[in-house]
Amino acid sequence: MDQLHIITHPLIKAKLTRMRDRRTSSQEFRALLREITLLMGYEITRDLPTKLVSVETPVCRGEFPTLQDDFFTIVPILRAGLGMVDGLLELMPFAHVGHIGLVRDERTHEPEEYYYKMPEGYERSIIMVVDPMLATGGSAADAISSLKRRGCTDIRLVNLVAAPQGVEKIRKTHPDVDIYVAALDEGLDEHAYIVPGLGDAGDRIFGTR
Ligand code: PRP
Ligand code: URA
Repeated sequence: MDQLHIITHPLIKAKLTRMRDRRTSSQEFRALLREITLLMGYEITRDLPTKLVSVETPVCRGEFPTLQDDFFTIVPILRAGLGMVDGLLELMPFAHVGHIGLVRDERTHEPEEYYYKMPEGYERSIIMVVDPMLATGGSAADAISSLKRRGCTDIRLVNLVAAPQGVEKIRKTHPDVDIYVAALDEGLDEHAYIVPGLGDAGDRIFGTR
């Protein structure tokens, strides 16, 4: 199976088009990001194993499927990844949340880690690293390396928009990590911004510049 999963639902496409529009407000941008992440969550979790449990319905007792393991850790890459947490938590309210702070150097485009905080026992959980933008792939690759160094083995990467360069970087550095995206764009500009992309996701979420 290919490592890259492009989720092409019409509702996701329409919402993403609204997000790309430069006139879309921060308020609407955040709401759309939450909604798209929730819809993507359905696909990201499609292969989760289930087990049978015994349940008594109002009619009779029977064996019914439930999740085999419900220990998930959602790991947003700060800042922009924060915009994807609520959508996944709505789908999986029992999930835990850890944070990795990374910022790209404006000149070299290399990421630098400034924060790392995880919930107890997270190394044994299914981890979903979330960040709207996979541009050069440096930030996501670093975040995944940080998690692996601490013993994590089951990691999925969830992005809204990816550039082919970012996908290639993850393919090379982390061939075991599945990548879920809503769109694969054309490439990067001279500032390593995704083209056509949607601009600076963190700035658009938080109204900064
Ligand atoms: C953005 C974005 C990703 C990263 C993608 O974050 O949210 O984390 O850049 O670029 P890359 O694939 O080339 O590493 P940024 O460093 O701008 O920080 P911010 O979220 O705090 O704005
Ligand atoms: N970070 C962003 O927020 N947007 C891009 O297009 C690239 C990196």
